[in-house]
Amino acid sequence: MTDAQQVQQQAALSLERLWPRLEITFRDEADVAPADWRALEMRLRHEWERLFGLLLGLYGGHYDFFYHLEELLRAAARSWFARPTWLKQLDARREAAPAWFQSQQMVGGMCYVDLFAGTLQGLRDRLPSFKKLGLTYLHLMPLFESPEGKSDGGYAVSSYRRLNPKLGTIEELAELACELQEQGISLVLDFVFNHTSDEHEWARRAQAGDHEYERFYFLFPDRRIPDTYERTLREIFPTVRRGSFSWREDIHRWVWTTFNSFQWDLNYANPAVFRAMAQEMLFIANIGVEVLRLDAVAFIWKRMGTSCENQPEAHQIIQAFHCLARIAAPALLFKSEAIVHPDDVVSYISPRECQISYNPLLMALLWESLATGEVKLLAHSMRRRFRLPQGTAWVNYLRSHDDIGWTFDDNDARWKWIDPSGHRTFLNQFYMGRLPGSFARGVPFQENPDTGDARISGTLASLAGLELAIQSGDEQQMELAMRRIQMLYSIILSIGGIPLIYLGDEVGTLNDYAFASDPDKADDSRWVHRPQADWAWRGKVEHDLNSPHGQVFAQLVRLIALRKQQPAISDSETAFVETGNGHLFGYVRHGAGQRLFVVASFSPHPQEMDANLLRVYGVGYRFTDLITGQTHTAEQPLRLEPYQCVWLEPSSLPKVTGEPSEWGTSYPSEMLTEEQDRKIPRFPSV
Ligand code: GLC
Repeated sequence: MTDAQQVQQQAALSLERLWPRLEITFRDEADVAPADWRALEMRLRHEWERLFGLLLGLYGGHYDFFYHLEELLRAAARSWFARPTWLKQLDARREAAPAWFQSQQMVGGMCYVDLFAGTLQGLRDRLPSFKKLGLTYLHLMPLFESPEGKSDGGYAVSSYRRLNPKLGTIEELAELACELQEQGISLVLDFVFNHTSDEHEWARRAQAGDHEYERFYFLFPDRRIPDTYERTLREIFPTVRRGSFSWREDIHRWVWTTFNSFQWDLNYANPAVFRAMAQEMLFIANIGVEVLRLDAVAFIWKRMGTSCENQPEAHQIIQAFHCLARIAAPALLFKSEAIVHPDDVVSYISPRECQISYNPLLMALLWESLATGEVKLLAHSMRRRFRLPQGTAWVNYLRSHDDIGWTFDDNDARWKWIDPSGHRTFLNQFYMGRLPGSFARGVPFQENPDTGDARISGTLASLAGLELAIQSGDEQQMELAMRRIQMLYSIILSIGGIPLIYLGDEVGTLNDYAFASDPDKADDSRWVHRPQADWAWRGKVEHDLNSPHGQVFAQLVRLIALRKQQPAISDSETAFVETGNGHLFGYVRHGAGQRLFVVASFSPHPQEMDANLLRVYGVGYRFTDLITGQTHTAEQPLRLEPYQCVWLEPSSLPKVTGEPSEWGTSYPSEMLTEEQDRKIPRFPSV
């Protein structure tokens, strides 16, 4: 018998034994809701073999394996019976249309509740602004209870069951989730599962010497083991603390803290940790979350002698969580937050692990191309690395709440005759505004004095040159900055996947340097791009087309509406093409009876693409640029103005069918008068 057959047999036998026990436990619930019970049984039987195999691999060697297994099943069943009816209805809808998140209708936004709207109630009042922008996905940054003062922006969670009382209550969050769903917006929350805060009840119990909870974390009496581990570990936050361990004087222990000293890494080698976190995950799912952003996935399994990143067990843990979600909260999607080497980023993405993932490579390389004016590394890397398995999608973004790290592959760079290390130094210098000719106003993040490594903080607008242009009052710089912003948005909105906007960037918010005088934030430059939203200011600029901020907003709203009308942008492949011009990035989207040929220029000067290529990639002779409405023929080279992006549709192909109202757009009729619409600059404006 093969290993796989053996596991299959063991799984079947185990379920035969466990199922009757579950039936007894949930007899009352099954009597009241027999259809729910049957649905649960069906899904459990479907997932069982896989779940069993994963857990056996991870924890089969533990004396109490079956105890944990049975408790997990009970937790899943309990959670399913506690799931609100509207979520069960959503489960059914999502199971019937599993590709829902790949639609071109999807547009994401992310924000901190306190910084964006004060409280959950305040956020509810902002719902019209999300609709106006066309959002269908809203990621609320961590809002669970966390330590006062320093909390890594909420990424140090003290309870997964209570919210930060300043923001609201779990009940309010559940109501908001339901209301968002009614408005066609999916709620996205973090599952910060690599660590808890040192104030979490488990950590407190460990501090009090409770052995059961000491085993939830990595605690060491001396440096012996930490030193051995550290030989192969990468430092993640070198400016706040060297190494990956923090000394706790109160308990006389070194604690594994990959990030800040108050974020204690959980020990997933302990099955009790997996079970405890699975319960927290299912609780969060039942609030009404549709996408769970799995925070810091790369770090969850430690193995001595390795970097303790991206270990095979990290995947098994996520896959086992996913099986449980399929059983008890089937509408739930996982989004991976792996800001690591591109090969490792992709390794988390599969229909059975994380269905969606940040695309840090595209993000970093868009900025790289903007700095160099050349697209060779971007085009080469995307050609090799953009394609994903069926049933999964990228989340494409320009900025998030985090820094920009230059996570491209060194060999990809060398292939294009770029020295990777020198190039990273150049990019850091460029985005810190330290090079002549740089338009960016970025701030260094976690500059490592030993390695010289650094990452970059800053808002989209400040990095794209708007801050400098406003300060200098230089009209031409202003125009170029606006064009860069629009071009970058045009790419993430058309390249395929879910575009994600860091809210604030939709109006070109500039860096806010005030964080430096707040002792809780001063040592973390990421706060420079996390300012408090100023709604009085926004009210003034948002619809003022004479203001650069109003222009950024209007252009973006328009582009989003345009995206939603292009079926070629939904679930299908992106073919990256050779444009024959080192400044032009090109790709074709083809699907649902439509073909779109996108060309984006990263040059501050006009550029041309050969007419033949236009014919070949565009498959046509006459084209309309959907962004400007201008037509192009393949008689002459395609000419692009500085930083222009065109979405070319051949006029000869069949047109999209259906009424515009069916395409679900919110713009322009609801937003601007025709007169105002005409005033929005559609580059090229000259
Ligand atoms: C993720 C978050 C980041 C946080 C870290 C530790 O990378 O995006 O903001 O600092 O995890 O939780």
